[in-house]
Amino acid sequence: MPNGTSVPDQLLVPTDVQALPPGAQRLAEALRTGNCPADRLFDRFLPDDLRAVSGQYWTPLLAARRAAEWLDDVGVHTVVDIGSGAGKFCVVAALVGNCRVIGLEQRPSLVAAARTLSEAFKVQDRVTFLEGALGVVPTPHAEAYYLYNPFGHYCFDSDRYADSGVAFSDARVAHDVAAAERLLAHAPIGTYVITYNGFGGRVPATYRLLRADQKLPCTLRLWRKDRCPPRFPEPIERSAEGE
Ligand SMILES: C[S@@+](CC[C@H](N)C(=O)[O-])C[C@H]1O[C@@H](n2cnc3c(N)ncnc32)[C@H](O)[C@@H]1O
Repeated sequence: MPNGTSVPDQLLVPTDVQALPPGAQRLAEALRTGNCPADRLFDRFLPDDLRAVSGQYWTPLLAARRAAEWLDDVGVHTVVDIGSGAGKFCVVAALVGNCRVIGLEQRPSLVAAARTLSEAFKVQDRVTFLEGALGVVPTPHAEAYYLYNPFGHYCFDSDRYADSGVAFSDARVAHDVAAAERLLAHAPIGTYVITYNGFGGRVPATYRLLRADQKLPCTLRLWRKDRCPPRFPEPIERSAEGE
């Protein structure tokens, strides 16, 4: 095709998107071509109780799209969403970018809803949801971790998503925050972290802040681990003489 000839939009759309139901297809196309539809259009694909809390609990489209663009920019192939909830971040990240996305979620009911969402958008080949709590089940190794306010007391309008066995307390939050800090502290050099409104703990000082977007409803930050923590200073050997 000669330089300067514009490519019709439909030729830029990957084939799998064209097989989606019309509403999902329009959303996927808009996200992939750099537009950002209203969140309510995406949230229609969530069950009622999960749609009702989307504005408070799930990453907005604009933030998920920006995060996915950043991950592609820095060449990340795999990202883990710690506390993936209804799967909104994971599915949008897969629609926008080229990453393989893994969601870790402690509530089985949300894992089920997230799998249904990924099937609605036909991204289940690149999106996987694992059931379990951070620090209890092994966290998959990844080049990047995404954290959006994962630790806290999330409740819903009905009991359908109130899984038994998931307890909330200040001690539990402190335990989870410490587990996230340990995960980041032990990750290899070159690991990326994206926080959206933080996670209640500190990104270790071994990470360098690369980007921040403060125009979103909450601040999105991209960090990269650049170095190992300093080792403890060697003990000073004292000679027997002179003491
Ligand atoms: C604010 S929501 C974010 C959902 C998703 N990351 C998104 O942006 O669309 C946080 C989720 O983390 C989950 N969560 C809380 N503590 C967790 C833990 N220790 N391990 C795994 N998931 C956890 C909650 O059940 C909730 O679904």
